[in-house]
Amino acid sequence: MLVLGIETSCDESAAAVIEDGHRIHSNVVATQAEVHARYGGVVPEVASRQHLRTIVPVVETALEQAGAGWKDLAGIAVTHGPGLAGSLLVGVNAAKGLAYAQQLPLIGVNHLEGHVYANWLDDPSGRPPPSLPALCLIVSGGHSDLLVMESHGVYRRLGRTRDDAAGEAFDKVSRLIGLGYPGGPAIERAAKGISGGAIALPRAWLRGTYDFSFSGLKTAVLHVMRAPEPPEAAVVAAAFQEAVIEVLAEKTAMAAREVGAGEVMVSGGVAANSRLREALADRSPVPVRAPLPRYCTDNAAMIGACGYFHLTRGERSGWDLDVDPNLQFAA
Ligand code: KG4
Ligand code: ZN
Repeated sequence: MLVLGIETSCDESAAAVIEDGHRIHSNVVATQAEVHARYGGVVPEVASRQHLRTIVPVVETALEQAGAGWKDLAGIAVTHGPGLAGSLLVGVNAAKGLAYAQQLPLIGVNHLEGHVYANWLDDPSGRPPPSLPALCLIVSGGHSDLLVMESHGVYRRLGRTRDDAAGEAFDKVSRLIGLGYPGGPAIERAAKGISGGAIALPRAWLRGTYDFSFSGLKTAVLHVMRAPEPPEAAVVAAAFQEAVIEVLAEKTAMAAREVGAGEVMVSGGVAANSRLREALADRSPVPVRAPLPRYCTDNAAMIGACGYFHLTRGERSGWDLDVDPNLQFAA
């Protein structure tokens, strides 16, 4: 069963053809990172205009690379939130138009649930699919969520960020220390091989909860940079990265012990960070699973995988499917 996934919630226009929720026939991502880099972050109006330009060729390329025609598809899955309204609208309207014209089932997917399903995508290691219940850490540009996935479609929230998301903190600190946008990969690169212990930065443990907070850490970095002779950017990058990762990994490990999860699944753009993956594997009492880095950051393969599981449960969206920039997940 082939599903076409479409994703346009932020600054990647993406389409993918996925078989049975795991096998990747094609995965096309047109990133706008370069366009937004000169502004130091995503400019919503620019993003939606770029999506308009790229969505048709991206979908065409995904079908072409999969060697699939419309008749081969069992449905179309599209991100309808959360994200930037103008960006989401391009994907949702494209998906609706195509599904209506080709008489295919349409299913709206929550972007965050999509990130979780990146863990179902085939991996060259040939590992088996995740076993449930599992603990999910979703760390992206907009969210830092800790949830238990009980079964397909059934989630229980343990914690969330109270202020900045992990990825947002990476992006803001990167700008502060002059490493540019997007911040996550820039900080990881700069920090490589440098000790994270040279500068003492605070950790917000928020004990007794599984919530996170990263805005105090960002302010602490600001103070460090205002010193008469601030340390090198790479030294600050390493200390910051270590502070974020220590809290994420330790709280996730604590939750894994408490809920008795069979495994930990990490996903979202920040999950591409190899230090985070390493720290989680070190601390977690159970095996840690992460998608390949290219399926951690925004893509449509994860949307196609997630859509497959909804469609096989008989779920469908109506033609009135709308975007919801603040769509909640496991509220
Ligand atoms: O999931 P994603 O692609 O988009 C959202 O749903 O937000 O996540 C993007 C976020 C950005 O904040 C980016 O800086 C961060 O993920 N990110 C990373 C890395 N790669 C991307 N953060 C840390 N280390 C990385 N290697
Ligand atoms: Zn995302």
